Amino acid sequence: MKSPLLYCIGIFGIAGFFFAATGCQEQSTTSHRNQAILDMKRATDHHSYSKPEEAVVTHLDWDAAVDFNTRVISATATYAIQTSESAQRILFDAVDLSILEVTVDGSAVEWELGPSQDFIGQPLSIPVSASSQTVSIRYQSAPDAGALLWVEGEQPFLFTQSQAILARTWIPCQDSPGIRFTYNAHVQVPIGTMAMMSATNPTEQSADGHYDFQMVQPIPSYLLALAVGNVEFRSVGPHTGVYAVPELIDAAAYEFAEMEQLLVAAENLYGPYAWERYDLLVLPPAFPFGGMENPRLTFATPTIIAGDRSLVALVAHELAHSWSGNLVTNSTWDDFWLNEGFTVYFEQRIMESVYGAEISEMLATLSYQGLVDEVDEIMDTNPDDTHLKLHLQNRNPDEGMTAIAYDKGYFFLRLLEKTVGREAFDAFLKNYFESNAFTVMDTERFIDYLKTNLLNTTELLAAVDLEAWIYGAGLPENCPKVRSERIEQVDATLIAWTNGELSTADLPWNDWVYQERYRFLSNLDDAISSDRLADLDAVYGMTQTGNNEILFAWLEQALRSQYTPAYERLESFLVQIGRRKFLTPLYRAMLETDQGDLALSIYTKARPNYHSVATGTMDELLGVE
Ligand code: BES
Ligand code: ZN
Repeated sequence: MKSPLLYCIGIFGIAGFFFAATGCQEQSTTSHRNQAILDMKRATDHHSYSKPEEAVVTHLDWDAAVDFNTRVISATATYAIQTSESAQRILFDAVDLSILEVTVDGSAVEWELGPSQDFIGQPLSIPVSASSQTVSIRYQSAPDAGALLWVEGEQPFLFTQSQAILARTWIPCQDSPGIRFTYNAHVQVPIGTMAMMSATNPTEQSADGHYDFQMVQPIPSYLLALAVGNVEFRSVGPHTGVYAVPELIDAAAYEFAEMEQLLVAAENLYGPYAWERYDLLVLPPAFPFGGMENPRLTFATPTIIAGDRSLVALVAHELAHSWSGNLVTNSTWDDFWLNEGFTVYFEQRIMESVYGAEISEMLATLSYQGLVDEVDEIMDTNPDDTHLKLHLQNRNPDEGMTAIAYDKGYFFLRLLEKTVGREAFDAFLKNYFESNAFTVMDTERFIDYLKTNLLNTTELLAAVDLEAWIYGAGLPENCPKVRSERIEQVDATLIAWTNGELSTADLPWNDWVYQERYRFLSNLDDAISSDRLADLDAVYGMTQTGNNEILFAWLEQALRSQYTPAYERLESFLVQIGRRKFLTPLYRAMLETDQGDLALSIYTKARPNYHSVATGTMDELLGVE
């Protein structure tokens, strides 16, 4: 881990043009212009109004007050900017923000909000000139801002989810992954709660509800994050710790006790960790994702607390993003696979290094099954969506969040590894992260980089077939095979049990780890009778399991077999938990089995608890609103 000073020197070496933006403030005396930042090789981002080649932000000072009663954040965002010779305006993205006042270098100016487009929002245009240095925007967020979830009750909680394009619902920003800036923040929250950001964080609650933050490494806007709640901090290693509400802090500290080991394993694979600390915040169960790689502070769902550390791969994944994504960032959401595919590969390597190849190959086998299923599904409706390079123009970038970017991306990297050998591939990746640190990458530049630095013979290129993988549909024939003997054993056991050759009591369920159990439950025959599920439930207490992944697989099968004794648990699961990965298949299973009324009655109760990312998907699925 580097100290901030070493960090500045290090980054100066790698990418000197960021020097002015890192808070190391080395500004030229004659001009505030830094042509390299303006000229940075960014692909056109169809999901942002900003025009960084005209004027671009380099640093944010955010001064905010969070009001739980009105559900409004009132704030001033002051940006340091770089302008081109001919700059006349700077453009920001905004969704449902009330803009109250704008100043440029301290003087009030006439700003303009343009017409609004679905999910993209409005351009906020502010007049500047070539000599302008700071732009300050006083504004308020809307009570139903898309990034924010306000949790009510005895334990009020607020969290943001900015990726992909929701940062603009709580901060006016140049909301494009190719634009990086450092930030400082001062945030006021209710006394009795702690504020946390993707920045340096407190470890204790302040007496007056005021908190200060710094993020000295430049980040893109989708990594801006804020959470507010009554949480405690517990250290689990020299550079690692967990934040959670008091009721969960012990369980969280146990579950994530191996975080420092994961961090060390990651550094040993692909080079020094650039963000100094790696902490994890356990969010309320309404969090719509499993995890979000907010720099220095991963946001995670509490549903990975299983009591036995069996779901820790998710932490390896978010940690891996500290390199793939946060250090080398996808240029636009069409290049999302560069973030996620690399991260799944890196995650698997961390898992292999800490827990052994038997575990990581089981995980890879499960990924492969998920990928094949999803490729089949997407091929039926929109084959172009199975290309690694996506086409998300005029669409919500959220639609790119499928197994393609993640698992087709993973298997592509695995093919590269297989083709050149692990040693060469590891050296390539390490170098890739180092030489592109704190910059952006798009698919085409990556292909060039790959051809120059790894696939530099016609034989290697032919063995891989970049065209088929990146711009072609489906899963190419040279997709590497994964084999896990333990998973094969599970499959054989499942067949024997389904045929009645093996009794329920003789299943090795209690000897199986999570991955084996998941494989068994998720591959049960759809037509299996509810009597047989009753049998499994009686012997192994499925409906009572404390592992949410297992419970999810069980509940999906319970719906398909109409095993009604599990429905009470199903309802409480869906009302409490807002993780979209669980919601979509469960509600879909209800629709597909003529239980649409049940779906609607549960959704009516559950919907107020969900984040906009989840209600967006579920409203469409269930045809409501
Ligand atoms: N960065 C993603 C989450 C994300 C992607 C949010 C796109 C919004 C838009 C995060 O790293 C992620 O991939 N989370 C996964 C878990 C992972 C183990 C596959 C999730 O939440 O399911
Ligand atoms: Zn990810």
